[in-house]
Amino acid sequence: MTATKGLEGIVAATSSISSIIDGVLTYRGIDIDDLAQNATFEEVAYLLWYGKLPNRSELDGLQKQLDQYAALPQGVIDQIKLYPKDTNSMAALRTAVSSLALYDASANDMSPEANLLKAIKLQAQLPTIVAAFSRIREGKEPVAPKQGVSIAYNFLYMLTGKEPAEVAVKALDQALVLHADHELNASTFAARVTVATLSDIYSGVTSAIGALKGPLHGGANEAVMVMLEEIGSTANVEGYITNALAKKQKIMGFGHRVYKNGDPRAKHLQKMSRELGKLTGNMELYEMSVKIEELVTGQKGLKPNVDFYSASVYTTLEIPRDLFTPIFAISRVSGWSAHILEQYQDNRLIRPRADYVGPAGAKYVPIEQR
Ligand code: ACO
Repeated sequence: MTATKGLEGIVAATSSISSIIDGVLTYRGIDIDDLAQNATFEEVAYLLWYGKLPNRSELDGLQKQLDQYAALPQGVIDQIKLYPKDTNSMAALRTAVSSLALYDASANDMSPEANLLKAIKLQAQLPTIVAAFSRIREGKEPVAPKQGVSIAYNFLYMLTGKEPAEVAVKALDQALVLHADHELNASTFAARVTVATLSDIYSGVTSAIGALKGPLHGGANEAVMVMLEEIGSTANVEGYITNALAKKQKIMGFGHRVYKNGDPRAKHLQKMSRELGKLTGNMELYEMSVKIEELVTGQKGLKPNVDFYSASVYTTLEIPRDLFTPIFAISRVSGWSAHILEQYQDNRLIRPRADYVGPAGAKYVPIEQR
């Protein structure tokens, strides 16, 4: 038995949800470029769960369910009020999502209908959790979700308490489409491993949030913003990047395990970053990002991934830096839950082996003789 570090190149599941073939990403066979330009996030979530795009009445039905479940159980809001104000936002989200199970009488109902409904509930409730957490830590009351509006609209509304600008809703909606699913990425794999023991969907999504938190995965979008803030201006980019690469530091938002010729999602976020910069009259973050890309691609051959231009997009939308990764989770819960449902359909325990490299034939030594 020989281990493959990081399971690189290992095919660990069959799935009909999303594919990455020759650098092209599809959700249920539809090219991400097509979806990014034409679909709403709600249509994409439906597509991931049901395997087809919704017709008008199916989409209206989903909207009604999202409206019905977007409010949080009072117990979860009360718990969020007890979190330390400076707690890590992904730790808060992970804890709150785990708590949702305590208030759902169907949490351990394993019927396919109950699990699908829980996927929709989680999709409805994650944006409310993130917005409520953000307001509560600022000493404000959470804003109740609005009915009949998109998830992108509702999230911005619950975060600020104000009606969001159309351009901001459109940008966030497209970002949610782009982040919704991504084959067997680390957090989706974590979700599938957890539910393959026939554990419940809340446990699966809680595991996934823990995996997404790390800077090698979803946490990279926040890390990109930390870097942009450290660099400070376009004039400082060259010195900073050349120095970082010389020290063999990783540049956050670059490289990908699967895409070696570029992440197809990055160009949409780059365009969005440029357009939002133009609209707000502040191109500094966009220009810094482009310069970083030129240098990292030129010197290392590495291309930006989905996280790189997300950072300038979300900052231009005036979203606090530490909510970038929770926003990733708000989108990816659609994909996680679709994978969880797929795992349940044809489940087998996921239990690989390890290549043991420790000592052999060791003996127990009594404590007095150690
Ligand atoms: N900056 C500088 N060098 C890099 C970077 C980077 N961002 N990414 C990879 N490299 C280098 C590595 O140092 C390594 O060089 P070496 O062969 O000289 O040692 C080589 O490229 C291969 O890199 P690995 O880390 O082995 O590639 P792996 O496939 O394991 O990792 C990963 C992929 C984690 C995405 C990596 O590129 C990385 O750490 N990027 C920065 C973090 C990031 O942006 N993560 C978000 C990924 S997208 C997502 O999850 C949503």
